[in-house]
Amino acid sequence: MKQKIHAKFVELFGEGGQQYASAGRINLIGEHTDYNGGYVFPGAIDCGIVAEIKPNGTSKVRAYSLDYGEAAEFGLEEADKPAQAWACYVFGVCRETIKRGGKVAGFDTVFAGDVPLGAGLSSSAALESTFAFAINEINGNGIDKFELARIGQSTEHNYCGVMCGIMDQFASIFGKQDSLIRLNCKTMEYKYFPFKPEGYRLVLIDSCVKHELASSAYNKRRASCENAAAAIAKRHPEVEFLSDAKRLWLDEVREEIPEEDFLRAEYVIGEVQRVLDVCDALERGDYETVGEMMYQTHFGLSRLYEVSCEELDFLNKLARKMEVTGSRVMGGGFGGCTINLVKDELYEPFIAAAKKQFAEKFGHEPKIYDVVISDGARKL
Ligand code: GLA
Repeated sequence: MKQKIHAKFVELFGEGGQQYASAGRINLIGEHTDYNGGYVFPGAIDCGIVAEIKPNGTSKVRAYSLDYGEAAEFGLEEADKPAQAWACYVFGVCRETIKRGGKVAGFDTVFAGDVPLGAGLSSSAALESTFAFAINEINGNGIDKFELARIGQSTEHNYCGVMCGIMDQFASIFGKQDSLIRLNCKTMEYKYFPFKPEGYRLVLIDSCVKHELASSAYNKRRASCENAAAAIAKRHPEVEFLSDAKRLWLDEVREEIPEEDFLRAEYVIGEVQRVLDVCDALERGDYETVGEMMYQTHFGLSRLYEVSCEELDFLNKLARKMEVTGSRVMGGGFGGCTINLVKDELYEPFIAAAKKQFAEKFGHEPKIYDVVISDGARKL
């Protein structure tokens, strides 16, 4: 991929470019907790985005997406928003950098990625983080890593219409080889946990289902959580985010909020605690508890938060039946992957059964990705 990018860059813009990269992410547990001020537990993975970049001495960006085989050219004023969705990510990162007082000199770029699209592995965060990191370095802006992650998040909010939390961009910027990162999304305190489970493997099974309305459904979930938090805060003013609320406090407002919002909130409050339980279990080397929590998360995401689908529930049920240690839908949901914690000896039979039985039921095989926890944003 790096060579292909370089060859195209030289063809379009000549020599002298510098390559930067950032990563997609997995999340062991802590789903839909980030925008609720709760904990997440992600790690960067060994696939991502690579971009070659060189300042071009103008006030314009000339970008080429190798994957789409498409070029875009745009200025750096708010009115210059490009037409192509992929270019909006690059444009958004430029604009958010400028809004924070950073300098963005015009540049040429060619980029490509190997994060499977729509699989819930945050290819968009990888793209944002690559450019946020590179633009910061090239222009000597000195913006800190937290703010680089926020630049990516604000790009989603203001230029792509997804009211996402901070998890994906944080993981993509802060990712470290062989480590998961527990992040408190309210205080932004974080801790690296070495993750190299002996005797187990982490594997993703991609249902290849892509939900058309995923971003509006996502924004709706977020609104439900905020509504529940606001109702609780009337009685307990210390509640700023839903993650600040006790389960009992949610019960107090049950009659005051729609049933749907109650169920969403019930899931989130449980999930915040599960992240802490999983971290404790990991420190004890207790993978069985980690796995059990993953199943509980799946149940919550499927029945209470309602972001699973038939295909993902099928894969989860199969994992349970085959006594796989842990399994759940990962990421925003509405399609994408399950993440599975599997004992070494069960890996082959489980994957074989998943492929076969899934294909029998849904007419196509799922895709399999072995998880390798890797570094986040960097200069190559
Ligand atoms: C998407 C969002 C994240 C997070 C997850 C769900 O990946 O971008 O901020 O909310 O969904 O945990």
